[in-house]
Formats: sequence, C-alpha cells, structure tokens
Amino acid sequence: MPAATDDLEAARLRIYALQDGAMRAQALAFCLRNGVFERLSSGPSTPDDLGLAPRVAPALLAFLTSQGLAERDAEGRFRATPAAEAFLVRFSPRFAGGRSLLFQGFHEQIGRLGDALASGKPLADGGQADLFGGFDEEDQRWFAEGMLANAIAGAERLRCEVDFAPFQRLLDVGGSSGGYTLALLEAQPSLEATIFDLPAMRPLAEERIAEHGLDARCRFVAGSFFDDLLPRGHDVLLLANILHDWETPECRRILAACHAAIEPGGTIVVVEPMLAEDLSGPDHASVSGLTMAMLGGENRTQSRIVELLEEAGFGDAWRSAIGEQNSVVTARKRGGDA
Ligand SMILES: C[S@@+](CC[C@H](N)C(=O)[O-])C[C@H]1O[C@@H](n2cnc3c(N)ncnc32)[C@H](O)[C@@H]1O
Repeated sequence: MPAATDDLEAARLRIYALQDGAMRAQALAFCLRNGVFERLSSGPSTPDDLGLAPRVAPALLAFLTSQGLAERDAEGRFRATPAAEAFLVRFSPRFAGGRSLLFQGFHEQIGRLGDALASGKPLADGGQADLFGGFDEEDQRWFAEGMLANAIAGAERLRCEVDFAPFQRLLDVGGSSGGYTLALLEAQPSLEATIFDLPAMRPLAEERIAEHGLDARCRFVAGSFFDDLLPRGHDVLLLANILHDWETPECRRILAACHAAIEPGGTIVVVEPMLAEDLSGPDHASVSGLTMAMLGGENRTQSRIVELLEEAGFGDAWRSAIGEQNSVVTARKRGGDA
C-alpha cells in the first residue's frame, strides 16, 4: 500500500481511538477499582483467577493486551506487563492509577464538555473555587491521590530542570499532600519546606510527611491563598499545577500573595502543563487544557506565564523546553542578591 494511504489509514484509526476514548477510560478505571492489575501482578492468572465474568473476560483481556498492559503465556494465562507493574499496581512507588479515579469524579462534567466549549465559560459559575470549596475530606483524598500520580513523575522532571541545591527553605503553595515537596526533600537533605494548602488537606499531608519520616524538615500550614497571608521566610516558592486552575484575575491575586511572601531575590518556580507558543501541542498539555476549559482555568503558553510573573514584580525569567506533561518557568523577586 502506498505511504500516503498508510498515513491516512493510521489517521483514521487515531480518529477511532478519539471517538471511543470514554470506553478506554472506563475499562481502565474498572480494572483499577476491581484489583485486576494486582491479581495480574501476583502471577500468571486465568480469567477465573481474575474474577471476571466469562462473557466479558475475552474482551477485557484483549483490550488490556492490545494496550500493552497484560501479556499471555504459552498456557493461555495472563500476567501484568512491566508498564502495568510500574504504573497500575496499587503499591508501586510510581502508581498512576489515581488519575483514573480523579477523572471518574469528573465523569458527569466531562459529559457536558461541549456546553463549556460552546459558551467559552467553565461549567460552574465559580470555576475551580466551586470545585475545591465543595471538597470534604474524602473528596480531598481522591483528588490528592490523582494529583500524586502526576507529582511523582513531575518532581522527577522538575529536578532535571531546576537545581534546588542553592535553596534552604521551600514554600509549596497549593502543595496538596506533598507529592512535589517530599520528593524534593528526599533528594536534597539540606532543604526544609512548608506545604501550604486548604485546611481539608491537613490530615492527608501530615500523614504522608510522617510516613516519609520528614516531620523535622517539613510542616503543613493551612489557609487560602486568596484570604490568608502566605508563610514567610522562604527563598524558593513552588507553584505546581496552580496557575492553570485559575482565570487571569485570580492568578494575579495568587502571584501578588507569592510576591509578598517570598524573600527579596527569592525564586518562584512555576511547573504545570504549558502549551507550545505555536499551539502545536503537546498532547497531554492540550487535553489537560480542555479539562481546564471545562472546570475553570487555562493551560497557558510560557510567554503568557512570564507576562503574569513580570506584572507581579518578578524578573530574570527562565523557561525550560516544552515538556509533554509539564513545562517550567522560573523567575526571581526583584531586589536582593539571592
Ligand atoms: C491541581 S492541585 C495541585 C496540587 C500540587 N501542587 C501538585 O501539583 O500535585 C491544586 C491544589 O490547590 C489547592 N487549593 C485550591 N484552592 C486553594 C486556596 N484557595 N488556597 C490554597 N490552596 C488551594 C488544592 O487543595 C489542591 O491541593
């Protein structure tokens, strides 16, 4: 078959995969909720061992196999692939399954994405303030678990982009249960940190700080970056996946609070999905941008983030290369030599 026809055929199948994306997401969430990956990981399994109804087992196992998440041995039994072991088995340090649970929580809103795109407005009048404001402790747990999956990979990449060695005290604003902070503290024993987030996050954050044995170097401070002063005395401030949750007026308020809190000469680090300047992608950042269009907020280009930082009184901006998941912009508070 000529190359152009091959390309078109591949494009047709990519369009099919877009159309049945909801089926893929739901099937994966089913397997995560029902412990299918843990069973596949415990040794070669038959459909019976996996607790799957005989009528649906072939379809589900074919789906997992075609996605590179399960493999079949010569005896016809199935086991988890290395990718499933790393990212979908519950106690793996790189467990990413929480993202599926997070998206399950948005299922009803995703069904109404078209309304948000047509109106150009988030589904809820208050944008993400309504989302976070409505969370009880249990909601916080599933949301934080989803964010943790991103943070584990995100912190690894951030450490390649930014050298934290010159810093002494980190303030992680909207730091959730410490996915970024705890990884940074573990990598750098001289660093101390404060995680700042809404009060409902305290139990989960303190639980994780204790689990990591980092109580002596990390504390949690509860508050709102819209209503409360941020803790003082930090020479580096992290905004991981925060600005993209908010519209421009709220971003300005958050950045003003950050500017007031950080030491003169201190560094602000913004890490989140960012769009290429020519809007060519990347894939993850663009799809996450659709989530923001639906919930409130916006995935921005690095130039737009630099503009917001400069307006807030930061200078010396530095940009990473655009990453598939996250990109980084750093800047310094003007004044001071740090
Ligand atoms: C998208 S999550 C990012 C979490 C974390 N930085 C990460 O990247 O894994 C947004 C975080 O902002 C927090 N947040 C939302 N509104 C806030 C507010 N008004 N003040 C402080 N934190 C807030 C949420 O509780 C949540 O932990």
